[in-house]
Amino acid sequence: MAKILIINGPNLNMLGKREQSIYGDTKLDEINSEVVRYGSSTGFEVDTYQSNSEGDIIDTIHSTGDKYDGVIINPGAYTHTSYAIRDAIASVDIPFVEVHLSNIHSREEFRRSSVTASVCVGQISGFGKNSYILGLDALKEILNK
Ligand code: DQA
Repeated sequence: MAKILIINGPNLNMLGKREQSIYGDTKLDEINSEVVRYGSSTGFEVDTYQSNSEGDIIDTIHSTGDKYDGVIINPGAYTHTSYAIRDAIASVDIPFVEVHLSNIHSREEFRRSSVTASVCVGQISGFGKNSYILGLDALKEILNK
């Protein structure tokens, strides 16, 4: 069974409380459970990880190459700023799919660019919690090739 890690970056632990009009009212734990359930029904073993710390996210990315077949990552605001997370993704030889709950391209100017997307296979943005499910479907396509 293919193994997938979902990495959520800063402030995503606040989902359910945080800016509900943008991110919805579902908590991260509930999103994770849904994706884990969807994963196992489609032949994926899904683990989840969240951190507010850039260094911890980088260490986790480095460790994925030996343990996982692919990664879904929502780097939160680090999407727009972290060359270090970008370089960490580029250092690992498994596919990454970047996901966002909100459509970052329709929001404030500073959110419209991603420094991490160019080292991912692609980006899914704007489908709320379904962005994670779509990310898993995308990884399935990539891994089945
Ligand atoms: C986000 C979009 C980012 O701009 C923001 O900083 C987040 C969440 C999203 O999922 O829509 O924390 O990554």
